Amino acid sequence: MRIDIITIFPEFFKEVISYSILEKSQTKKIVEIKIHDLRKYSLNNQKSVDDYQYGGGAGMVMNIEPIDLCIKKLKSERSYDDIIYMTPDAKKLDQAECNKLSLSKNLIILCGHYKGIDHRVREHIITKELSIGDYVLTGGELACSVLIDSVIRLIPGTISDGTSALEDSFQDSLLTYPIYTRPSTYNGWEVPKILLNGNEKEIKRWREKKSIEKTKATRPDLFKKDFL
Ligand code: ADE
Repeated sequence: MRIDIITIFPEFFKEVISYSILEKSQTKKIVEIKIHDLRKYSLNNQKSVDDYQYGGGAGMVMNIEPIDLCIKKLKSERSYDDIIYMTPDAKKLDQAECNKLSLSKNLIILCGHYKGIDHRVREHIITKELSIGDYVLTGGELACSVLIDSVIRLIPGTISDGTSALEDSFQDSLLTYPIYTRPSTYNGWEVPKILLNGNEKEIKRWREKKSIEKTKATRPDLFKKDFL
């Protein structure tokens, strides 16, 4: 998969993509991540990429031209499955969307800033808009980081234990069961005995029961969700 990220803070991503699974997936050549500095596509001397709102009102709006030029250049080089805009006023990202996006070959992700982007970009250029939650971040970079992390870890080969991503919370509309590791007793706090007896069938049944209990208690809405 190739991911092209368009941002006014290219430096931000240097760290984000240099650790753990994001770093390994690039080393293993499963994913190629390219960062594009939007200011390089500004045609004015100040390299500005925003302007006042038509109609008045507080907050600057990102100009259409640099965004269009950058995306046009990328599209002239390859075709893209989606051109995604990260924004709080969009459909909320969920596991089903991550699963779908993990099958993509090429993605562009545009990080917004200020008050937002000229609406014509959303009408004519963007193919998918995603929010990571009902709160407003200072920019789309953090949201984009969440998106690429949650998508890349699903691509076969990125996680050493291939089954573990499939067992995550949300993959089957259930939150995950409690997990433990050594020591079996700490401060007098015991690991549930059933996990120590080696009976796989019983352990599976216990885990399912715990998943259902946890989901009912904390996210009853998930029972209604279709994740495929
Ligand atoms: N940009 C600012 N806030 C955001 C959010 N909640 N999700 C996606 N992009 C954003």
